[in-house]
Amino acid sequence: MNIKLTEEHISVQGAAREFARTVCKPGVIQRDTTMQYPYDEVKQMAELGFMGMMVDPLFGGSGLDTISYVLAMEEISKVDNSCSVIMSVNNSLVCWGIEEYGSEEQKVKYLPLLSSGEWIGSFCLSEPEAGSDATHQRTQATDMGDYFLLNGTKNWITNGSTSKIHIVIAQTEPGKGTAGITAFLVESAWDGVHIGAKEDKLGIRSSDTTSITYTDVKVPKENRLGSDGEGFKIAMKTLEGGRIGIAAQALGIAGGAYELALAYSKEREAFGKPINQHQGVSFKLAQMATDIEAAKLMVYRAAWLKDEGLPYNTASAMAKLFASEVAMKTTIEAVQIHGGYGFVKEYHVERLMRDAKITQIYEGTSEIQQIVISRAVIQGSPYLPI
Ligand code: CAA
Repeated sequence: MNIKLTEEHISVQGAAREFARTVCKPGVIQRDTTMQYPYDEVKQMAELGFMGMMVDPLFGGSGLDTISYVLAMEEISKVDNSCSVIMSVNNSLVCWGIEEYGSEEQKVKYLPLLSSGEWIGSFCLSEPEAGSDATHQRTQATDMGDYFLLNGTKNWITNGSTSKIHIVIAQTEPGKGTAGITAFLVESAWDGVHIGAKEDKLGIRSSDTTSITYTDVKVPKENRLGSDGEGFKIAMKTLEGGRIGIAAQALGIAGGAYELALAYSKEREAFGKPINQHQGVSFKLAQMATDIEAAKLMVYRAAWLKDEGLPYNTASAMAKLFASEVAMKTTIEAVQIHGGYGFVKEYHVERLMRDAKITQIYEGTSEIQQIVISRAVIQGSPYLPI
């Protein structure tokens, strides 16, 4: 594996770092407190080409690789995880799903809108009774000849109220299990689409997470994504890449908290010297740096495998499992190093600690990643393909 960053990678990383520092940081505490959606910040992410990073320039995207995407996610996540989750879902769940499985017409119609940030997308798989157990979808799309009639409720939908296009996974042939599940592209403006209230969350508070109910929504035949019965596979393949994005978010959270703790430990004095001259703090910093380095190697490797066209399902699950644990552990230690200051909003680390938790939950809980990894390990499928 070659993970030497190219000039292009370094340029993307620098642009994302600058954007996070100058655009996201000034209002991030306020937005977290008030749950205000980051409209201006999302607009600027789009201007930087961050909303369709891996999309072919033919469809208005930036045409970058997965490593570039990971680097941008990591830098923005050091500061603002509401912005980075909005970006992540748009890129790796929605744009990727359409580019990989969409018809030419679907790509031409939707990808330029999504890449330019004019439209935001959402990925609607989870349901009140089918979160981790994605096989048991209750949302149904009934074939009516000219169109499908869609009924059901999805929840925990990132970009729920702001997305104009939803990838919706629904049951089309009940009784056929995963082979009876199909994916659809549903526009939020269509009759029968009802958006629930914004959830009041522990972290990533300014991103909009809602439920979405579909009541007798007429979905034209041309808006089926992929073929009949392919929906479960599309969802799983899409999540393989999505998990790399969330692993990068977790890596960024850990890196952001570590950088803040390191800086604070140099300034803050106790017992006559900077606190990082006490082993109680310096050993914590050493462990944080080591954990972050290990997580970084896993996340970059998963991205590299994807870019190389090699299997990356297990690598992305491992990267997400590990990086999200590192995010949780590192942010808790960063709060501890800050002492009382870590417990107040002004110092940013308490927000990163709250944000870290969701990386162990969305796009598959840690336990789901363990299922994916353990199956690969036990069945001997591509565990370490190189
Ligand atoms: N690629 C291709 N096919 C796959 C696949 C993959 N990665 N994973 C499974 N499949 C196929 C299997 O080969 C199998 O096909 P056959 O029936 O032809 O053999 C079929 O799909 C069923 O697979 P399983 O038997 O493994 O299914 P399962 O019921 O045991 O579940 C699971 C597998 C991994 C637990 C899956 O249900 C899962 O990933 N659940 C978690 C879903 C999830 O991540 N939800 C989060 C919601 S998204 C989100 O958070 C959005 C947001 O807004 C942030």
